[in-house]
Amino acid sequence: MTAVAVVGAGLMGANHARVLRRLPEAELTLVVDPDGPRGRALAESVGARYCAEPAAVAGLAEAAVLAVPSERHAEIGVPLLEAGVDLLVEKPIATTVEDADALIEAAREHHRVLMTGHVERFNPAVLQLDGLVHDPLHVELTRMGPFSPRVTADVVLDLMIHDLELALALAGSDVERVEGMGRRERTDSLDLATALLRFRNGVTASVTASRIGQTKIRRIELTQRTNFVVLDLVRQDLTIHRVDHNEFLAEGGVRYRQSGLVEIPFLEHRGEPLALELEHFLDCVMHRRSPRVTGLQGRRALEVALAVRRSAGSPYR
Ligand SMILES: NC(=O)c1ccc[n+]([C@@H]2O[C@H](COP(=O)([O-])OP(=O)(O)OC[C@H]3O[C@@H](n4cnc5c(N)ncnc54)[C@H](O)[C@@H]3O)[C@@H](O)[C@H]2O)c1
Repeated sequence: MTAVAVVGAGLMGANHARVLRRLPEAELTLVVDPDGPRGRALAESVGARYCAEPAAVAGLAEAAVLAVPSERHAEIGVPLLEAGVDLLVEKPIATTVEDADALIEAAREHHRVLMTGHVERFNPAVLQLDGLVHDPLHVELTRMGPFSPRVTADVVLDLMIHDLELALALAGSDVERVEGMGRRERTDSLDLATALLRFRNGVTASVTASRIGQTKIRRIELTQRTNFVVLDLVRQDLTIHRVDHNEFLAEGGVRYRQSGLVEIPFLEHRGEPLALELEHFLDCVMHRRSPRVTGLQGRRALEVALAVRRSAGSPYR
């Protein structure tokens, strides 16, 4: 069993604490937050100790989940890594490449596990893709949801970064070219953004994220040479399409006919993605393994997100 602290008792910290509390591999020992009432309330609800200062973590936990505002990830995370604590840092790993590098370097120097919390990689539909990506050509990723007044970052760092990280993993290559466009609608930063990416191996991607949608959509459409794979990340399902034969018929009026194969694999729904992410992190801590989403992978996603934002003309440069 690993002693774990949750640093940051806001929305995500509370989610992590709720899940950690039920995992047999974890003992949630500490909740840290300078906001006393908030931190104490969460600590009490999960039976952990409370402290206002992250410095308390090293004495009470071997590993920590860092769920503080993203601009503060390096400032709070680096001393924890230096003190010998393994870290799961919420996404985005940081808001600057320099901060991401500081975290990666501290983890390397102190032989710590550093994982980036790209939770969508633990969506059962995405996990199923592991054995299905053979010859990708193009991927379209869409993430839309209704507006929430509690947003702080722009839609690229807040939402699109999930899909940029997935696109990098699916393409299996670095990004060579990025073009972004977007608009502000409800806030002073990008509320809707769309990006075209080209990877070094020739794979292309089209990524759209919006927080001014009228419904929740999280979808991946993967075109491969031999099939077309569609994932619905909300419903956690996956469908594989293969065309067998298609033709236009002229007799009796023009029509199109297609025959093909549709495969819907049975997905083992093994619980919520956040629980799978935390189980994986604890397994990496226990067995000193490299995580599914390393600090470096978090940094690569951040770099692409910053490039999309620059190209889209956001004021945050
Ligand atoms: N994986 C996801 O889908 C997802 C969703 C939402 C947020 N996030 C990420 O989670 C992180 C936190 O976001 P949130 O929405 O929970 O924010 P939040 O504002 O709800 O909570 C942040 C908390 O951190 C606390 N904090 C500030 N400084 C601290 C310090 N020095 N030590 C300890 N706590 C401190 C604040 O008091 C606050 O309670 C961000 O990096 C965000 O991008 C990820």
